[in-house]
Amino acid sequence: MEEQKKPVILSGITPSGVLMIGHYMGAIRNWVALQHEYECFFMVADLHAITVRQTPADLRRRTLDIAAGYIACGIDPDLCTLFVQSHVPEHTQLTWVLNCLTSMGEASRMTQFKDKSGENAENNNVGLFTYPVLMAADILLYQADLVPVGDDQKQHLELTRNLAERFNFRYSPTFTVPEPFIPPVGARVMSLQEPTKKMSKSDKNEKATLFISDTDDAIRMKIKRAVTDSGTDIRFDEKNRPGVANLMTLYSTATGKSNAEIEREFEGLGYAEFKEAAAEAMVGFMRPMRERFLELRSDTTMLNALLAKGAETARNRARRTLRKVYKKVGFAELG
Ligand code: TRP
Repeated sequence: MEEQKKPVILSGITPSGVLMIGHYMGAIRNWVALQHEYECFFMVADLHAITVRQTPADLRRRTLDIAAGYIACGIDPDLCTLFVQSHVPEHTQLTWVLNCLTSMGEASRMTQFKDKSGENAENNNVGLFTYPVLMAADILLYQADLVPVGDDQKQHLELTRNLAERFNFRYSPTFTVPEPFIPPVGARVMSLQEPTKKMSKSDKNEKATLFISDTDDAIRMKIKRAVTDSGTDIRFDEKNRPGVANLMTLYSTATGKSNAEIEREFEGLGYAEFKEAAAEAMVGFMRPMRERFLELRSDTTMLNALLAKGAETARNRARRTLRKVYKKVGFAELG
């Protein structure tokens, strides 16, 4: 019974690419730290992925990549519920109910929709428009108390809160109104090629991103060719020297050294020496993750079994919430 009392956390990543070090540093390492104190649901948001056109075989592969990546980064499927969104049909079922509670105006105000639908006209689909409502369903189904999200998702969480309150007010208290979770450590990792832009799993330039499947040589090459600035000394200055600052963030995560310690370590030395050290540190840091990732990916049967177990636990929880919702909105009970 104790177990039931832990606050619930839910988060997810859209499988539009392979897991990268930015996910680890910005999100997953915090999730790992939360596993013991909270009841955690971590999902692979494959329903969200198809708001952008996907190649089916790639989507299938990446879904498993992300799931294996979670575990490789330290998510323990025995402590958390790890699942694939499309395995739990309640997500789409609750989305419909919430769609009917969302006004056109509030959905139109979502900046991610405006950005993404504006990027190219071909990508202008209704799913993209209702993407935040699906995200609200993800969260509300599990009665999540806390949702760790990045800045770009805060507005969606605000919508989720509004929908939960609206439903609770119109019918009766049903949903927990979730709070955003601001992680204690959250380093923003930037693109290695354009250090003013966030590192992205879907960057067209492969050299911009460190993927958890990267080989030692690929890691070395990407760090050594990372775009730096026109300075010479190693100093943490995100505004004027974003390239070096970004490499310092990586080096700091890999070694546990503070920026001040790193500055002292490289006093009198130049970019070449620093990049060399940063490359080796990242190689050492990422190797165990990659090895675990490859091991998990080589046994699809086992991975699928883990995900089937996760889906079952998730469904049991989701079903309870959906049943209440269906009843409250007035759907006649079957039989
Ligand atoms: N939309 C999120 C992203 O792109 C992924 C996501 C889907 C999510 N559902 C969620 C995150 C629910 C937190 C909670 O990053």
